[in-house]
Amino acid sequence: MPRDIESRRRDLQSAFSIGTEEWESLSVTAPLRELADVMVESAVGCLPVPLGVADGFIVDGQEVSIPMAIEEPSVIAAARFAARLVGRDGGFTTWATEPLMAAQVFLEGVSAQGETRLASCAPRVRETLAGPLASLERRGGGFRGIRVARLPSSTVRVDILVDVRDAMGANRLNTAAELARPALEEAGGGRVLMAILSNAAEERRAGARFVLPVDRLAVRLPEGMSAAEAARRIVAGAELAQEDTSRAVTHNKGIMNGISSLALATLNDTRAIEAAAHAWAARGGTYRGLSRYTVEGGALRGEIELPLAFATAGGSVDFHPAARASLAILGNPDARRLARIAAALGLAQNLAALLALVTSGIQQGHMRYHAARQAWRAGARGEEVRLLARELAARTAGPADAEALLQKIRERPR
Ligand code: MEV
Repeated sequence: MPRDIESRRRDLQSAFSIGTEEWESLSVTAPLRELADVMVESAVGCLPVPLGVADGFIVDGQEVSIPMAIEEPSVIAAARFAARLVGRDGGFTTWATEPLMAAQVFLEGVSAQGETRLASCAPRVRETLAGPLASLERRGGGFRGIRVARLPSSTVRVDILVDVRDAMGANRLNTAAELARPALEEAGGGRVLMAILSNAAEERRAGARFVLPVDRLAVRLPEGMSAAEAARRIVAGAELAQEDTSRAVTHNKGIMNGISSLALATLNDTRAIEAAAHAWAARGGTYRGLSRYTVEGGALRGEIELPLAFATAGGSVDFHPAARASLAILGNPDARRLARIAAALGLAQNLAALLALVTSGIQQGHMRYHAARQAWRAGARGEEVRLLARELAARTAGPADAEALLQKIRERPR
């Protein structure tokens, strides 16, 4: 592959039959192409995933607009709907632990005495890492201790706990893990097999809850269904995700619709956040739903807590201008506030999905978005998309009908 992006692009375009529209969609501007080339190997362009804003969230008494990068229709509309539903009664209350992450060093051939020595070698490790962690210490973070565990294979795992403040911490933790190797080999008497951060982020959790008078659910309910019955059904629907793994996966996918799209909009590490969320969901040995609901004293309560290693500094987050724009929309939060907003968004997404699922069903709301895509495929552009989508949603028409309808719209006097 040629070394510079423009030659790579030329080669690629001539090697594969990529249409003009498809090619232009990857092209963005020349400076962004150059930036892409700096960010990843073998870059050929950028993928323009839609970015929307779920405004009107109240998180701990403060209004916040949440940028979401996602290809799936209806997710942002669902978030906005839940934000308004919950916002009338105070919105979401959230919390976050300190941003503690673990750099892990795995050692083979460590005796029982070596394991004991490892458990008391924190001062030595702290001293070794003083330089690399100095800037974190200045910002109130840094070394927080070590933890030792023997795994079933007999390998010993040493967790070096570091408060990473506003960073995701991967680079810093990996450097720390590698620098600590000689000190740990000396203390433990074994050999290091590998050294890397853990993405589990079990200590770096955020949560959100809301309390909603049940009567507030009396919107868009099917005829004959009371708000109390809708609330009961939400609780029962959420409980399914506690007793059935196949339902829990879909339940949590809905939660991650919100969290992952915020992670992508801010160029946080979506894979790390998702892996940690799913591991947390399975922490008891069975994969379960991440949220819980109850009805008590005429109020529906929803709650969620999970690891959320969101960063607002370092990595791509404060590097790429698009991520900086997303942070500006969010009011430039610190990492813990961003994690708390993510928890609120995940819970909002889940509430909207459950309410739709246990009342009118999910498809009703989706048809509007399906009709807009159908209109686009039929060739509608600009105002035509809305006009044709409205007509398509009102009748059961296939693609051929969509084109005929579009023709009729175009022939109408303006
Ligand atoms: C769709 O992207 C998400 C849902 O399937 C979530 C759920 O079933 O809870 C609607």
